[in-house]
Amino acid sequence: MDHSRKLHVQTWGCQMNVHDSARMADALAPAGFGAAATAEEADLVILNTCHIREKAAEKLFSELGRLRRVQQARAAAGGRLILAVAGCVAQAEGEALLARAPFVDIVVGPQTYHRLPALLARAEASPGVPVLDTEFPAEDKFAHLPPPVAGAARVTAFLTIQEGCDKFCAFCVVPYTRGAESSRPAAAILEEARRLVAEGAREITLLGQNVNAWHGAGTDGRAWSLARLLEALAALPGLARLRYTTSHPRELTDDLIAAHRDIPALMPFLHLPVQSGSDRVLKAMNRGHDAAFYRGRIAALRAACPGIALSSDFIVGHPGETEADFAATLALVREIGFAQAFSFKYSPRPGTPAADAPEQVPEAEKERRLAELQALLRGQQAAFNQALVGRRVPVLVTGPGRHPGQLAARSPWLQPVHFPAPAALIGTETWVEITAAHPNSLAARIEERHAA
Ligand code: SAH
Ligand code: SF4
Ligand code: F3S
Repeated sequence: MDHSRKLHVQTWGCQMNVHDSARMADALAPAGFGAAATAEEADLVILNTCHIREKAAEKLFSELGRLRRVQQARAAAGGRLILAVAGCVAQAEGEALLARAPFVDIVVGPQTYHRLPALLARAEASPGVPVLDTEFPAEDKFAHLPPPVAGAARVTAFLTIQEGCDKFCAFCVVPYTRGAESSRPAAAILEEARRLVAEGAREITLLGQNVNAWHGAGTDGRAWSLARLLEALAALPGLARLRYTTSHPRELTDDLIAAHRDIPALMPFLHLPVQSGSDRVLKAMNRGHDAAFYRGRIAALRAACPGIALSSDFIVGHPGETEADFAATLALVREIGFAQAFSFKYSPRPGTPAADAPEQVPEAEKERRLAELQALLRGQQAAFNQALVGRRVPVLVTGPGRHPGQLAARSPWLQPVHFPAPAALIGTETWVEITAAHPNSLAARIEERHAA
């Protein structure tokens, strides 16, 4: 393939964005774009942005300031650096972004990046006239994207099956930036999974903003649920492991819980954000369930799959959150016990109902609550990792480790695992004994009978 031009992509935000960045590179490969390690070496820079919290959005503008100077230096040398802003800030701020940064050449939303080659052609033909496309088009983006560049697949791969969100939590921008919920048909998903496996993927993580809300046309003409889709994926030869993220508690249906019991390929780890342990706050957040519902779903999940480990997202300092509400969150965390978690200070987002709510929590109070919650969660994560020391664990070897002679692998519970072993094991599942626990990873040794 002709790689006469260079593309540099910078990504912020969730796994969906990480995956979208790879697909944007795929979309531009037929136009002759190969990868550049830095903006300085690139002809086109794409900033794939996140709007979820204020800090995430502000990073874009500081980076744009830097890139403007690169762009000016290039112009002075008689060349051109095209700057594109993609992702959720592009979608949410479109015109305002161009007013603030008029040197940006292309603004493209998460639902229209399959049109990048055409947008680029327009930008090239009209220097100084920015091109903006933040539509929610009727056509299916995935049907218009070229297949991923061969060989790009890794032992662990992402596969988008669902996009958008109809839940409208009071604090969240995603329904505005990603649009309405939509599910890809099972046939397209299975075809993409087969191709990923053929290229070497052994583990696939299904992606969606509300992945367990997936419901699509099945290959038998019936409507399938996520549980049914997982069953079909698990039957693909060569595919050893399956995961899905991010889930909503309300969509954790009984058949999906049963799938965790019945499908051995489905890994015993679930990221199930609860946000708060207080019923008052959950109501204000418009989450559509209370704390008892969450506890009940977790109990059912643990009954179906006793080894399952849990992860969650939390927001502290949501408007109206009192000390008693925060204590309810701590109590829920202590009771359930999480193997891992993400927690954030509430960040008011323009256009969302919570941003205009009275009773905003002072910043210092948010800081204090976050520190307290994170200390508790860190302790739980450390205890979870520590409890694995001395145990035999089946890991999926993903690639070389950081040190010579060492391999990197992934545990069933998503922890990175490192151990000395021959590179021939890459891409296989193997049993190891965990020898030490670190805050975010595990060390192991390979079992003798497998080492030979
Ligand atoms: N769809 C997922 C979450 C997607 S956003 C769900 O419903 O659980 C990822 C996480 O960012 C959320 O779970 C939430 O914890 C956090 N988040 C979203 N909006 C936020 C805001 N305004 N301030 C702080 N954290 C926020
Ligand atoms: Fe945002 Fe709520 Fe939708 Fe998750 S479910 S993406 S938090 S609106
Ligand atoms: Fe951020 Fe958009 Fe993902 S706002 S978290 S990049 S869906």
